[in-house]
Amino acid sequence: MTGLQERAQVIDKKIEEFDDIVYPKEKISVEVGFGSGRHILYQAQNNPDTLFIGIEIHTPSAQQLLKQIELQELDNIWVLNYDARLFLEMLPSNICSQIFVHFPVPWDKKPQRRVISSSFVEESMRVLGVDGRLELRTDSDNYFWYSLQTFFSVDKVGVEIRKNQALEVTSKYEARWLRQEKDIYDVYVKATQNSLPKEKSRDFNFDNVKYHKGLEDRLPKKALVFDGYFIHFERIYKISEYRIMVKCAFGSFDRPEHKYIFLEENSCRYFVSAPVRTKVNYEAHKQLIKEINQGVKYV
Ligand SMILES: C[S@@+](CC[C@H](N)C(=O)[O-])C[C@H]1O[C@@H](n2cnc3c(N)ncnc32)[C@H](O)[C@@H]1O
Repeated sequence: MTGLQERAQVIDKKIEEFDDIVYPKEKISVEVGFGSGRHILYQAQNNPDTLFIGIEIHTPSAQQLLKQIELQELDNIWVLNYDARLFLEMLPSNICSQIFVHFPVPWDKKPQRRVISSSFVEESMRVLGVDGRLELRTDSDNYFWYSLQTFFSVDKVGVEIRKNQALEVTSKYEARWLRQEKDIYDVYVKATQNSLPKEKSRDFNFDNVKYHKGLEDRLPKKALVFDGYFIHFERIYKISEYRIMVKCAFGSFDRPEHKYIFLEENSCRYFVSAPVRTKVNYEAHKQLIKEINQGVKYV
């Protein structure tokens, strides 16, 4: 492996790695939806003692930032190409000093896709240390009022609002609104107390789950929808008399998992790897077990 490839492995993170990752710096900041990356690059250059974790759902933007990090030889940015709404719960409590959300997509017609929600704010407050801040910057009146309402619905936070405040660095996106003299709002949401440690690692095993005769006929054919997640047994492959492989989709509607479950007479497991350890995947995993064990009597 070349030096460049090794470096790329260090900065280009996969969500699964956050299960037991070692953070190389004490100070940690997160930027959600970094777009062109101008702001995160500026922050990283000016704060070498801080690790910046950038999360971007759009793959070309993530690749573009990786190139810039290489060119500028920065060693304090990690890039994660993933959905920020599911990421924060992978972080330990009280670890961050700032979470930047600059110009999130307003999603006026599909508000359920917005990054800011009460669960996102609650997770933000858990991962921020005391006096750490979630910083929203938006040009959308609608998003500003929606976010304000969401922030005030969460306990024990301090909220501060600014209008048309100049930052040291202007993103490409912002520059366009400034030329049009649009109002820009900043809302800072401060964590006012330490949070309890994160729940213990979720167990994605299938204890006491195994193949039972006729299971392939009993599993529901249609997708089952629950509060915040779904499960769908998409295809069943009969391998031998007491062995099947089930192709399933499950988890969050926006970022579902696609996995195979291997069931035999005495055991059951994910093939090849377990799902990402998010809360919603865990709820879906427990539901998968219920469906597989439906109608089975243990003696
Ligand atoms: C309007 S752009 C703003 C980009 C940048 N922050 C700026 O100020 O120029 C919004 C960015 O958020 C990203 N994004 C939208 N939803 C996201 C999500 N759930 N998780 C991570 N990134 C997301 C988009 O891909 C896009 O790059």
